[in-house]
Amino acid sequence: MDFENIRKDLTTSLGLPYHETETCMLFCGDTLSLQKKIAPEIFSTIITSPPYNIGKEYESVKPLNDYIDWSVEWIGRASKLLLANGALLLNLGYMTVENQGHAIPIPYLLWDKVPLYLNQEIVWNYSAGVACKNYLSPRNEKVLWYVKDSKNYVFNLDAIRDRNVKYPNSRRNGKSRVNTLGKNPSDVWEIAKVTTGYNRSSVERTPHPCQFPSDLTDRLVLAFSNEKEVIFDPFVGSGTTFESCMKNNRFCIGFEIKPEYCEIAKKRIQQAEQGARQIPLFSCSDREVNFGSV
Ligand SMILES: C[S@@+](CC[C@H](N)C(=O)[O-])C[C@H]1O[C@@H](n2cnc3c(N)ncnc32)[C@H](O)[C@@H]1O
Repeated sequence: MDFENIRKDLTTSLGLPYHETETCMLFCGDTLSLQKKIAPEIFSTIITSPPYNIGKEYESVKPLNDYIDWSVEWIGRASKLLLANGALLLNLGYMTVENQGHAIPIPYLLWDKVPLYLNQEIVWNYSAGVACKNYLSPRNEKVLWYVKDSKNYVFNLDAIRDRNVKYPNSRRNGKSRVNTLGKNPSDVWEIAKVTTGYNRSSVERTPHPCQFPSDLTDRLVLAFSNEKEVIFDPFVGSGTTFESCMKNNRFCIGFEIKPEYCEIAKKRIQQAEQGARQIPLFSCSDREVNFGSV
């Protein structure tokens, strides 16, 4: 189904979006309720980071089993929305499990409860972050790369090759051993976190408390989807997935429960429409806004 037909279907089943452009639609509401209303097999790729159940301002902490059940339900529902060669790129961090462990990677709890094939785990190494005294300072999260069909999926390696090759002139039997486009970037991606704070705040920083760096979403979009395909983010937050889709000529549909975050995402979409971001979108005082809870 092309994007215009998806737009028509979604407008019929979900009503008017919070914001839309020629290439994207943002809906404000609960992801599960919205997903239940839409037809299956319409998206090529899902790129998302759900709540981690760790008490962030946008979530209420659930008992562990309820969190797992809820995760299984939204992931199961979202998987149905994927096309036959579709993929889910699922970013997950850590949580404490009472009496069992301090920093349990959430993939340990969920990986085999997803009705898709786990192609690979990508380690996102974000190089700087909180400094711990009683534990090692955490410096990675995971992105689980699931596909619907283990023999038929999109993987654009050339689009994400790493040009930083140590021995570019390395040869064997007179032939170059190096791909001129660069090397495979491996399953460990070193991409800085979006930072906050006086004098060190990332230019892309918005008031959202857990924002993807756009270098991460750019790479996911480029590697795991093709131009003109439709990408879905069930937990939009500040709209980083939208921004990467717009930059890289993909369509994007997203759901976000908090109107305040929808407004941030809308601003980013509008700015992305106007071209590359050259000035910070939000002033320092915007960043200090505490949105409270809905
Ligand atoms: C980890 S953040 C996503 C951040 C996003 N990747 C970005 O770059 O800004 C998770 C988001 O999911 C939203 N959310 C939580 N529960 C939701 C639900 N039931 N339906 C839709 N969105 C929800 C939160 O408000 C939050 O903005």
